[in-house]
Amino acid sequence: MRSIVVTGCAGFIGSHLSEKLLQLGYKVIGIDNFDPFYPKKTKEENLSGFIHNSSFTFHELDLRIDSSLDCIEDHIDLVVHLAGKAGVRPSIEDPQGYIDSNISATRNVLDFMRKKGIKKFAFASSSSIYGNNKEVPFSETHNVDRAISPYAFSKKSCEVLNHSYHHLYDLDIINMRFFTVFGPRQRPDLAIHKFLKLMQNDQEIPMFGDGTMARDYTYVSDTVEGVVKSCKYLFEHENVFETINLGNSYPILLSEMIDIIAKKAKCEPQINHLPMQAGDVDQTYADISRAKALIGYNPKVKFEEGIERFVAWFNNK
Ligand SMILES: NC(=O)c1ccc[n+]([C@@H]2O[C@H](COP(=O)([O-])OP(=O)(O)OC[C@H]3O[C@@H](n4cnc5c(N)ncnc54)[C@H](O)[C@@H]3O)[C@@H](O)[C@H]2O)c1
Repeated sequence: MRSIVVTGCAGFIGSHLSEKLLQLGYKVIGIDNFDPFYPKKTKEENLSGFIHNSSFTFHELDLRIDSSLDCIEDHIDLVVHLAGKAGVRPSIEDPQGYIDSNISATRNVLDFMRKKGIKKFAFASSSSIYGNNKEVPFSETHNVDRAISPYAFSKKSCEVLNHSYHHLYDLDIINMRFFTVFGPRQRPDLAIHKFLKLMQNDQEIPMFGDGTMARDYTYVSDTVEGVVKSCKYLFEHENVFETINLGNSYPILLSEMIDIIAKKAKCEPQINHLPMQAGDVDQTYADISRAKALIGYNPKVKFEEGIERFVAWFNNK
């Protein structure tokens, strides 16, 4: 049975991924420090469906602490590194926090792998690193040197750091650039989750900009499928250093997104029009041809269907 470390296993994507890997018959070693960005209780609920699975082991560890992983004695075949501080806007308030939890923590994970001789690494990068790139769809060949937030800077730095460990220590690595992931257990700070809650409480929705901001929303099972396929690719190949977009390649305008949530939740949205916020990009739009060709990535869930599933989950929680 192959063993995979999932960092950030108590988070939104990490909990779905851990569940999927367990279903597929992998042994999963989960790491999380319950970062207070959102409540520990929510993260414990995320873990509740699989924490007692005999193929799952949980370690509450803070990856910012040097050598924190050294207590793990299990054999490990691959590391999926999802842990970190997510979110663009909070990174502007706390850039050092993002440097610590994203860049230093990633260095710590890479050094643990180097010391233990673990060769396979799948890393959660982000569409944010494309900044205000005007050329769409975003391709992995586009320049990503113009970060417009500390969050984007931290992810770009990790991709570069990853390359140095690939070069120096022969680590096989895939940088997976996720595009606004949504679905059950979505982080409460993200727009879809926040907006649905506001609508259901008859409160105003803050709409930043004129509604034409667009996001390439990706349903969480499609993102997870992309991560699983990245792991399989890493297991089957040597000398890998790849970067792929895991998006949906179908941008949705902010105004459309609000309308669709309102329709599925049967609510009447009240909009509070506000100026664009610093650090927000105008649009994200993934070219996914590289991911299709490399790992056979093929996102399936349409935005409306995903929102319907999200609303159903939200109403039953
Ligand atoms: N959700 C998205 O739309 C999206 C888009 C692009 C990239 N990403 C990236 O994907 C990854 C997962 O995102 P998510 O939405 O599931 O976020 P999340 O906040 O739900 O999950 C991240 C988890 O990492 C843990 N963590 C944070 N710092 C840690 C540390 N120092 N040590 C150990 N654990 C730590 C947190 O407690 C949390 O449970 C993140 O790296 C994020 O930047 C997410």
